[in-house]
Amino acid sequence: MRPGNLYLQMQTMKAAICTRYGAPEQLEIRELPKPVCQENQLLVRIMAASVNSGDVKVRSLAVSRFQKFIMKIIFGFYKPRRSILGTVFSGIVEQTGKKTSRFKKGDRVFGMTGFRFGTHAEYITLNEAGIVACMPANASFEEAAALPFGWHTAIYFLDKAGIRKFENPNVLIYGSTGSVGSAAVQVVRFYGATITAVCSSAGGELMDQLRVDKVVYYDRLDFTQLDEKFDIIFDAVGYTNKKICQPLLKKGGSFLTVNGMVMASEKIEHLQLICDLFEKGKCSAVIDKVFPFSEIVAAHRYVDAGKKKGNVDVRINIPFVA
Ligand SMILES: NC(=O)c1ccc[n+]([C@@H]2O[C@H](COP(=O)([O-])OP(=O)(O)OC[C@H]3O[C@@H](n4cnc5c(N)ncnc54)[C@H](OP(=O)(O)O)[C@@H]3O)[C@@H](O)[C@H]2O)c1
Repeated sequence: MRPGNLYLQMQTMKAAICTRYGAPEQLEIRELPKPVCQENQLLVRIMAASVNSGDVKVRSLAVSRFQKFIMKIIFGFYKPRRSILGTVFSGIVEQTGKKTSRFKKGDRVFGMTGFRFGTHAEYITLNEAGIVACMPANASFEEAAALPFGWHTAIYFLDKAGIRKFENPNVLIYGSTGSVGSAAVQVVRFYGATITAVCSSAGGELMDQLRVDKVVYYDRLDFTQLDEKFDIIFDAVGYTNKKICQPLLKKGGSFLTVNGMVMASEKIEHLQLICDLFEKGKCSAVIDKVFPFSEIVAAHRYVDAGKKKGNVDVRINIPFVA
């Protein structure tokens, strides 16, 4: 067979490539070879993916000088080595490798890829031992893609705060309207907490939907003036700190923030818990906006603004209806 024929036979897919660190316009949708499934892998046709704060941080490197240096070492000096961003997906198993057994063709799955990225594309190959599970049976692809990022982070940090050991804890969630914050509110409710949420007045409607006990609008009141003490204060957005919050903590109480050196590690148990809770109606996917894949630049711009309520998705292999 001549090389030209081989080229003609190569299957391709669309993927959003980050060509350099910088503005959302550095992203380009290109035609790339469709990945080939190895024997311990699954080939997944991605239906929806989230565009989250992690993706825009890696694309923009809009972080402190020290963080920028560390991130360049990890991700690449001039552009991300893994040029297809995106860490969360939902989709359909199209092919299973010979040495796999957990999934079959046609399974609806969701998951996370962490530092391997690669979900802003029409297809991805994943080790079946990775962070991938069957989607909640009652979830849409958009809902399944919106769940893992915030929920796994919230579960990780609240576990660290020892939420399980408290009986009816009094918890304050600072930054309760983002992806992590809106999940954290739901996680602590699951543990029987009394919840005080701190957000801007633009978040009031969402806080009503999530049934928090008390809301402090940071644009109207300084939450540190509250005459109340908490077992746990979780800064889910990274805009407060322990020194500010210390006077509000009960003796033995915990303060945690997403803005430290601690990275929430992805666990398959978290994905299974999210699935279970969603199927039992104990967790909901908070979706602010869904973009067609062709508008990935606009999706990044929207997330860059730092105002989203919950999550932003892109629809990839599903036809987009606005
Ligand atoms: N360490 C880890 O493992 C880890 C994991 C995941 C995420 N993170 C980090 O956690 C942070 C939050 O992530 P995310 O995806 O949840 O963010 P996000 O969804 O992009 O957060 C946006 C939300 O923050 C609110 N907000 C903006 N300014 C605020 C302020 N001054 N006080 C309180 N709320 C404010 C916005 O609402 P208003 O503008 O209406 O206030 C909006 O609802 C990011 O910095 C991310 O990098 C860390």
